[in-house]
Amino acid sequence: MAIEKVAVAGCGLMGSGIAQVCAQAGFPTVVREVNEALLEKGLKGIEKNLDRQVEKGTLDAAGRAAAMGRLKGTTRIEDLAGADLVIEAIVEQLAAKREFWAGLEPLCPKQTIFASNTSSLSITEMAAGTGRPQRFVGLHFFNPVPVMKLVEVIRTITTDAAVADEVYAFAGRLGKVPVRTTDRTGFIVNRLLVPYLLDAVRALEEGVASIEDIDNSMKLGCGHPMGPLTLLDFVGIETTYYIANIMFEEFREQRFAPPPLLKRMVMAGWHGRKTGRGFYDYTDPKNPRPVKLG
Ligand code: CAA
Repeated sequence: MAIEKVAVAGCGLMGSGIAQVCAQAGFPTVVREVNEALLEKGLKGIEKNLDRQVEKGTLDAAGRAAAMGRLKGTTRIEDLAGADLVIEAIVEQLAAKREFWAGLEPLCPKQTIFASNTSSLSITEMAAGTGRPQRFVGLHFFNPVPVMKLVEVIRTITTDAAVADEVYAFAGRLGKVPVRTTDRTGFIVNRLLVPYLLDAVRALEEGVASIEDIDNSMKLGCGHPMGPLTLLDFVGIETTYYIANIMFEEFREQRFAPPPLLKRMVMAGWHGRKTGRGFYDYTDPKNPRPVKLG
């Protein structure tokens, strides 16, 4: 059975991006949020992204209309039941995810594939709470979803090989480059990225260099699109702190232990770009200024 209809749970930063790329790739897509205000915010973000593509000439007006025509927003969980694949991108909390899957399970035919976009929680644990652990995978997209080409396809010890293959092929049909990985916290990217980001914070704490010089070093010395401290602000300080703690719990290795400065920034509410302050001050978003840390 090829995947033809898609449902996305969650229309936040990741869910809206996933819904957008599915609709743009030609899949009828239902996207669900828990209330009208959040749904409207997510759908507006998608429209803005498509408008930007039209302005740049990478999408024409007919393509924009067709993508929006394939996209249906809803607040009803029942509306997700007609899809061949349900991609969950709700809040990154195991209890909330398990509750979501438990609510969806009885509504869907037994062949429906379930996929979670979690970056750090266990796919196996989520799958075990449903009646279809063999049809449950991880499908991990990267921010910003419309731009980043990679998708991690995560197979657990209970996933059918054919299901993993089908989801892998689906990611390719989205125009993404899929990679296969297993259910170990952090998968491929965060396993390598998180220790690197934490090390940048340690370097700053130890007085190796300034915020700007650390960022410029990795941008200009290694060709990264963003320096690590800018990337931390982009991903979110509290998000990275949360992921690092889960990875530390899983592996008990020092390289995943969040440094004290990161924790202090979370406690101070300096969560990065989304709160206007992290390693940089975004009062003027086009011209971020490095902050003074004590
Ligand atoms: N949504 C949609 N499109 C966006 C976008 C967004 N939020 N931000 C930028 N873009 C598009 C722009 O429209 C532009 O498109 P065109 O090439 O068609 O013109 C393109 O991306 C480049 O954007 P800009 O010229 O404005 O800016 P840039 O060249 O500085 O690129 C960036 C911005 C793509 C974000 C780039 O800085 C980058 O790749 N940064 C690294 C991002 C990264 O590492 N993401 C992974 C984070 S880890 C994660 O997501 C997983 C996890 O589990 C934590």
